[in-house]
Amino acid sequence: MLDELAHIGRDPSTNGYVRDAWSAADLELREWFRGEAAKRGLDLREDRNGNLWAWWGDPSREPGVVTGSHLDSVRQGGAFDGPLGVVSAFAALDLLWERGVPPGRPLGVACFTDEEGARFGVPCVGSRLLTGVLDPGRALGLTDDEGDTLADVLIRTGRDPRALGRDDETLATVGAFVELHVEQGRGLDAQGSPVGVAAAIWPHGRWRFDFRGRADHAGTTRLEDRDDPMLPFARMVLAAREAAARRGVVATVGKVRVSPGNANAVPGLVSAWLDARGAAERDVLDLVTELAELAEGAQVSEESWTPVVDFDEPLRDRLADLIGSTSEGGGPVPILPTGAGHDAGILASAGVPSAMVFVRNPTGVSHSPHEHAERADCEAGVAALATVLEDLCR
Ligand code: GLV
Ligand code: MN
Ligand code: MN
Ligand code: MN
Repeated sequence: MLDELAHIGRDPSTNGYVRDAWSAADLELREWFRGEAAKRGLDLREDRNGNLWAWWGDPSREPGVVTGSHLDSVRQGGAFDGPLGVVSAFAALDLLWERGVPPGRPLGVACFTDEEGARFGVPCVGSRLLTGVLDPGRALGLTDDEGDTLADVLIRTGRDPRALGRDDETLATVGAFVELHVEQGRGLDAQGSPVGVAAAIWPHGRWRFDFRGRADHAGTTRLEDRDDPMLPFARMVLAAREAAARRGVVATVGKVRVSPGNANAVPGLVSAWLDARGAAERDVLDLVTELAELAEGAQVSEESWTPVVDFDEPLRDRLADLIGSTSEGGGPVPILPTGAGHDAGILASAGVPSAMVFVRNPTGVSHSPHEHAERADCEAGVAALATVLEDLCR
């Protein structure tokens, strides 16, 4: 199935994927999802927020067990972040079907919309809207690089923007959620295990810093007459690195917009996006406060904030034991924290019993075309997921 998706949104010059939410690539991936559901006779539903659900059984009678992930990507991302969880979900259902195990509860595959936030800036838009932690009015007004709002884009795809918002009816169908994901670090590799279970998701957020100055001629404006926003921006980037190291967190400036963007002019505006994460909320928030104070005069706005997620301990222990007991070696598989955000975290925070299964990534690289997982490890992930679903559906 991953091979079938390999051409969609792929940039042949880099081998990276560009699968922005609601782009042509994303729409093609969504069609693929519908096709996979139809092939298996699953009941396909699109909820009010654009999330897709493929059900084996009827979850309006009894809440079901759901597995899945997302199909959108960061820009120039890898083939696994997101799609591995969706294809593994279908593959795990196939395994249960082959084993002749009818699930004791409805079993669903989910594809969440706009997990990465590559286009509109806010991650996990589909699951945040579903659970009510993102205000639909705010979501609809988010703009992409072309200046189109999410509302414009939804209308263009034939959807009703007024439908967006907390969806208790859909949420009530999710009795439990398990997301399989490629690991985005080397934790499993270091422990020599093809699969593991998530312990926690670090608190994380995105902030936009707008440094305003005065655009002017690069040749005729004396240095002392300039109001160049590039300078405080550069100081902020260096300070972020230093402060993150000092506080034991991570901070990244991965997106910058320079306006108007002339090589022969002092810029008038530099907008920079700070992503900050760490094990302790206080350290992350203190870092942002420190940088905002340093960047005095810059306008700082929070684009998203995700508090710490501690996955349900009895559930994750049970999954680690269960996966371990049915795979080579026998002992429980590793239980690891992650600095990456996931829809499973959003659902967990909304009170849905949730868990994650990680698949080994030999280099740990992710959000890059170099992201990789070996086929045998992906198969171990599918087997683990099937075991877990069978147990949860009992
Ligand atoms: C999404 O993958 C994120 O953690 O930024
Ligand atoms: Mn990602
Ligand atoms: Mn992901
Ligand atoms: Mn993510």
